[in-house]
Amino acid sequence: MKQPHSQPQPRFHLFILLLIAIIATVSSSSSPLDPKQLKALKILTVTKDPCNNNHSSTTITCDDANPFRHITSLSFKNSSSLPSKTLKPLSKTLLSLSFLNCPSLSPPKHLPTSLHTFSSLSSFHRHPLSGVYLARLINLTTLTISSTPIKASGLYVILGNMPNITTLTLSSSNLPGKIPKTFHSNLTHIDLSNNLLRGSLRRSITLLTNLESLNLSRNSLSGEIPNSIGDLTLLKNLSLASNRFSGLIPNSVSYLSQLTHLDLSGNKLNGVVPRFFSGMESLKHLNLADNSFRGVLPYNESFIKKLEFFQVRGNSGLCYNNTVVSWKLNLGIAPCDKYGLPLSPSPPRKEEDSTSEEEEDDYDEDGDKKEEEDGSDNKIVLGVAIGLSWLVFLIVFLILLAKWSVVSK
Ligand SMILES: *[C@@H]1O[C@H](CO)[C@@H](O)[C@H](O)[C@H]1NC(C)=O
Ligand SMILES: *[C@@H]1O[C@H](CO)[C@@H](O)[C@H](O)[C@H]1NC(C)=O
Ligand SMILES: *[C@@H]1O[C@H](CO)[C@@H](O)[C@H](O)[C@H]1NC(C)=O
Ligand SMILES: *[C@@H]1O[C@H](CO)[C@@H](O)[C@H](O)[C@H]1NC(C)=O
Ligand SMILES: *[C@@H]1O[C@H](CO)[C@@H](O)[C@H](O)[C@H]1NC(C)=O
Ligand SMILES: *[C@@H]1O[C@H](CO)[C@@H](O)[C@H](O)[C@H]1NC(C)=O
Ligand SMILES: *[C@@H]1O[C@H](CO)[C@@H](O)[C@H](O)[C@H]1NC(C)=O
Ligand SMILES: *[C@@H]1O[C@H](CO)[C@@H](O)[C@H](O)[C@H]1NC(C)=O
Ligand SMILES: *[C@@H]1O[C@H](CO)[C@@H](O)[C@H](O)[C@H]1NC(C)=O
Repeated sequence: MKQPHSQPQPRFHLFILLLIAIIATVSSSSSPLDPKQLKALKILTVTKDPCNNNHSSTTITCDDANPFRHITSLSFKNSSSLPSKTLKPLSKTLLSLSFLNCPSLSPPKHLPTSLHTFSSLSSFHRHPLSGVYLARLINLTTLTISSTPIKASGLYVILGNMPNITTLTLSSSNLPGKIPKTFHSNLTHIDLSNNLLRGSLRRSITLLTNLESLNLSRNSLSGEIPNSIGDLTLLKNLSLASNRFSGLIPNSVSYLSQLTHLDLSGNKLNGVVPRFFSGMESLKHLNLADNSFRGVLPYNESFIKKLEFFQVRGNSGLCYNNTVVSWKLNLGIAPCDKYGLPLSPSPPRKEEDSTSEEEEDDYDEDGDKKEEEDGSDNKIVLGVAIGLSWLVFLIVFLILLAKWSVVSK
């Protein structure tokens, strides 16, 4: 990894530093900042009290220790320079470090291993964070990396020695590899969305019985959703959207009684849509779009309307029973015929008389659609209608013309 280049440090910084130290000592009622840490901040701080500072690009918080306070959290926003030696003197006490929107920054050379929280959002675009580098943060409880490139052969490299991690976000970071075979931790939140993960949804994930949210959307994961998914009984949010999962939705999903948010869209799931979702009291958001589900949608209108979000479009074999669900819900799937098969949504070719009666029934509530789909008869009606309206127009025109000529005379 490239060494982050130091900024030139003009002499007046020393002067400002001295001033800060004096003012901080005089004005602060609590104990002063540890002089070594104060020195480390010389380039970052411009206000009189470095603790509780809200400089535009750096936010700092400190503990209340005696005789010297220590910096516990440091947050950089929109920063384009971070002097290479800044973090080293902070390394024993710093618990939280975050970078927000610092794309041109290089990752700091010395990451304090004391950290409990590390975040990087839209940062380090020129020099990716390496997995080995992150793996040194053995006391982390929260790791949040998003829109920040990562260089690692897989997640196991990063998590291998982080027993206390509970919240893991590693999204939009080009993370390759598979889901690790084991997790040595008690994770409650996992977001690995929008990466390059492949392979199956391993059982290791379903052993994390404290999980409340799992987002694996937008990867290349494949295979079936394991039946053991039902072991994650605390799960509230589950997204497996935009992967290559296939097979059926396992019945064990019905054990996820806390589930509020389920997104399985954009996979190759098939079989019938399970009826049990309508009995899941907490469910608010259900997305089953763009799969290969087939058969009759087993829900009535009151269930669908109760949800805040419901989508099933993009399942060409799926249809709704139009005696229990109105076309007005605009589900994006075809209504069923009496055999439970979707009626073709495109205008049918010339049908025999025997079937046309049935079709009329099915489109009863949808007058417009019926007209469109009734084929050749419609064209005649349309032609007559146009002819008639022209005739009416012509008559009105002639009457007006006659009146006008009378008046003008
Ligand atoms: C610093 O700013 C953030 C929001 O920008 C605010 O929530 C926080 O209370 C501020 N801290 C201090 C010490 O002013
Ligand atoms: C950081 O930059 C973004 C856009 O570049 C801007 O919207 C935001 O207000 C900036 N934040 C700070 C703290 O300067
Ligand atoms: C991790 O945390 C423990 C307990 O707070 C502490 O004793 C230990 O020194 C920390 N390890 C590192 C590498 O900072
Ligand atoms: C991490 O967990 C271990 C045991 O699980 C514990 O001894 C240690 O204190 C924890 N570290 C922190 C920083 O909480
Ligand atoms: C996970 O939690 C269980 C009980 O909740 C505990 O016994 C175990 O030590 C924890 N494991 C780690 C790695 O923190
Ligand atoms: C679940 O997802 C929703 C919407 O994305 C979010 O508001 C909520 O905080 C998430 N809940 C959990 C437990 O992650
Ligand atoms: C999962 O992640 C995607 C992409 O980051 C996001 O759009 C979606 O809201 C998340 N879903 C849940 C349930 O948290
Ligand atoms: C709709 O379905 C739900 C769940 O299956 C059921 O409890 C409810 O009674 C049904 N409502 C009507 C109007 O059929
Ligand atoms: C549609 O629902 C009605 C009333 O519940 C039922 O009699 C009919 O068999 C259903 N049609 C299909 C195709 O499932």
